[in-house]
Amino acid sequence: MNLTPRQIVEELDKYIIGQAKAKRAVAIALRNRYRRSQLPKDLREEITPKNIIMKGPTGVGKTEIARRLAKLVKAPFIKIEATKYTEVGYVGRDVESMIRDLVEVAVRMVKDEKTHEIEAKVKPVVDNRLIDAICDTRRASDIPVDKTIVADELKNGKLENEQIDIVVIDTPKPMLAVGGPEINIGSIFDGMLPQKHKKRRMSVARAREIILSEECDKVIDKDNVYAEAIRRTEEEGIIFIDEIDKIIGKAGGSNNQDVSREGVQRDILPIVEGSTVATKYGNVKTDFILFIASGAFHVSNIEDMIPELQGRFPIRVDLDNLTKEDFKRILSEPKNSVTLQYSSILKVDNINLKFTEDALDEIAEMAATENETSENIGARRLHTIMESLLEDISFNASGDHPMLEVKVDRAYVQNAFKESKKKFDLKKYIL
Ligand SMILES: Nc1ncnc2c1ncn2[C@@H]1O[C@H](COP(=O)(O)OP(=O)(O)OP(=O)(O)O)[C@@H](O)[C@H]1O
Ligand SMILES: [Mg+2]
Repeated sequence: MNLTPRQIVEELDKYIIGQAKAKRAVAIALRNRYRRSQLPKDLREEITPKNIIMKGPTGVGKTEIARRLAKLVKAPFIKIEATKYTEVGYVGRDVESMIRDLVEVAVRMVKDEKTHEIEAKVKPVVDNRLIDAICDTRRASDIPVDKTIVADELKNGKLENEQIDIVVIDTPKPMLAVGGPEINIGSIFDGMLPQKHKKRRMSVARAREIILSEECDKVIDKDNVYAEAIRRTEEEGIIFIDEIDKIIGKAGGSNNQDVSREGVQRDILPIVEGSTVATKYGNVKTDFILFIASGAFHVSNIEDMIPELQGRFPIRVDLDNLTKEDFKRILSEPKNSVTLQYSSILKVDNINLKFTEDALDEIAEMAATENETSENIGARRLHTIMESLLEDISFNASGDHPMLEVKVDRAYVQNAFKESKKKFDLKKYIL
């Protein structure tokens, strides 16, 4: 979490082309969490996060930025779609559940850390339980057992796939949805009911996971975990609200749908503004949670949001429309670039794709033109073009031939679309 703004932007640059303003804004907001955490408590209380709202056309990287941030930050982070929520009193998820989800993430984070810390300590206990289970299972089917040999083989990883019977704690999983919030019945009665045990058959590898988590649960102090999780949620939590424009009714509109969307905005307001939400781990104050919202705002404007909510997103960044040059870079530069994805996937079937520079030019050019002439769908256009470009080869590759090198150059691209261009033209005539 202590990445500097520069480092954060560098990380984002590995996956997202352009959009410098948005990257900078997010990077600063993230770093400010850390800066604030270094201040004395009384000053800290005064500083609330500067929430961000990102606006930009479809397919230019808004959601992608959120996805990459999620992997980058070591803080509790969730990305939610605003459209998932409904106004309190209606069937559906109420907005407070986003806080409950965030705490859930924090709890898992803290638990994982603690598990990691004590893993070495509980390992002998886990191994012993495994060895006993293996021996018992073998004995049950009249196979002679030598415990030392079993222990040895287990240590050398030779028994991972052996099926064994183990007695595990039977955790009830019934979920009860009462007008929105989901309640896990099992967890309500946590510690009140005697634990039930159940014999189950599974591989040694799977059994190890389960036993490890059972043994760790015995050692880890749950109350500590929950307290730490709540602290992190309150102090470091980040919620990315995607598609926020979808909960904005048209200006002046007053049909039912618009009213209920405005209801969701009203419900979100206290959470963004700072309130206390009850979760099963305890109360969470939302005052210092950082919110980053994003939306395409095709039909509505940020100004159509209810004013109080607008006011809580002081930082506004516009994402840029992508150009032909951006498309070309998106094709090849990101760590998970489209061309890399296709060549890796086809390599499995012995096709070695090589894209030439001018092929990338051609594809980028096509994407830009298509976006202009038909609907502008941003970088998503690249996916549709690549899909039809490689349709033929994807269908014919079978893997039962030696490695074939296929050079995709400008001619290849033009050729591949000759047919569809004709079809495209025809359709135009018919229309
Ligand atoms: N600037 C970019 N750099 C790299 N890849 C991008 C960029 N913009 C979009 N993409 C790619 O295009 C696809 C769609 O992008 P994304 O989901 O971020 O769109 P969005 O801005 O959230 O659009 P929408 O408003 O429709 O939700 C993703 O696969 C993403 O990897
Ligand atoms: Mg999106």
